[in-house]
Amino acid sequence: MSTVKLQVTRGEQGSEPAVETYEVPYRDGMSLLDAIFWIREHEDPSLAVRYSCRSANACKECSAIVDGKAGFLCSIRAQAGSEVRVEPLSGRPWIKDLATALD
Ligand code: FES
Repeated sequence: MSTVKLQVTRGEQGSEPAVETYEVPYRDGMSLLDAIFWIREHEDPSLAVRYSCRSANACKECSAIVDGKAGFLCSIRAQAGSEVRVEPLSGRPWIKDLATALD
């Protein structure tokens, strides 16, 4: 079975951030937001991420830094066998894990 590994920033405001690595079963067409939902359902329901529409760029709430570049988790496709670094947006107040305050 193919997987995708996500290295996710964990922690909350006032704490030192840590990186957790999760291995998620890959399926065709899955987005990084889908992979994060899998982690929440199967490994850690406390993983915080902001989202609303769950589709490409409609609400813009799922913004994050992916491999060093800003993007929308719901529109970036996971790649089988890859390892991806996912961090909260910089320049906004950090709330928890991947969730930052909105503008
Ligand atoms: S969840 Fe709305 S743009 Fe990604």
